[in-house]
Amino acid sequence: MKVIETIAEMRKIRRELNGTVGFVPTMGYLHEGHLSLVKRSREADDYTIASIFVNPSQFGPEEDFECYPRDYARDFSLLEKEQAHFLFMPQATEMYPEGFDTWVDVGKVTELLEGAIRPGHFRGVATVVTKLFNIVNPTRAYFGQKDAQQCVVIRKMVKDLNINLEMIIVPTVREPDGLAMSSRNVYLAPEERQQARVIYEALRTAHAMWVEGGRDPEVIKKAMLKMMREKPLATVDYISIASPQTLEELEWAEPHSIVSLAVRFGKTRLIDNLFLE
Ligand code: PAJ
Repeated sequence: MKVIETIAEMRKIRRELNGTVGFVPTMGYLHEGHLSLVKRSREADDYTIASIFVNPSQFGPEEDFECYPRDYARDFSLLEKEQAHFLFMPQATEMYPEGFDTWVDVGKVTELLEGAIRPGHFRGVATVVTKLFNIVNPTRAYFGQKDAQQCVVIRKMVKDLNINLEMIIVPTVREPDGLAMSSRNVYLAPEERQQARVIYEALRTAHAMWVEGGRDPEVIKKAMLKMMREKPLATVDYISIASPQTLEELEWAEPHSIVSLAVRFGKTRLIDNLFLE
């Protein structure tokens, strides 16, 4: 696997690639979730390019940018094992030089849920992903369903701005007890980690209620909230049952509605979601 550290070199190499190019943008500290995106690209594309860039513009001032977990050597060997062809690791100074002041604002879908709690987050995500798409120019780009709203935002951006690529959404990879894999799981103290399994249990409960005919979102959300409240270390930011396109809350839980929640354990914020189907 070749490591590329400058935009000019990435462009030069890209120009020389004949065939389809799959792109997996990440912020590193890789786990099986990230690697499942790489695997999908390796199956579908002639070339697979992963990127690692801890994007400062998507972190709020009180968030964990400075201490976001980083382990370059481990990430390198994991990507090499998956046989990714290239790893693009740009510098923040090259991505955001002095005077940088152009932003991609995807509008209403960025203001709900995660966007309501993390103002500016999706502006940072949409901007860096646009820049990465412009640099890498992939045939396909791979994103995880784990970050459901991010998928909706990027999909809308690709459509609205006529970005010429195919979006592939890959299912969430979970720990054996159901907790969605996340780079932030390492922050959890043992007791918090133990209680964090309630997130998936609550999603499964919502799904079971729906399968049994439950269609009132308020009733389903209430049952989920009750489960969360039984875990003393968990603080719920939101529980949502929303349209998969607009992310607006529904009055009736239709097929393909998306149940999502954000929960804090101490300083660690975890998100997860499931489709009702
Ligand atoms: P990061 O959190 O590193 O995630 C990179 C990609 O891996 C995202 O598409 C995310 O949805 C996916 N992913 C994370 N955990 C997953 C899991 N358990 N199962 C499946 N896929 C999973 O998301 C970002 O980085 C950034 O916002 C980025 C898009 C790179 C822009 O900076």
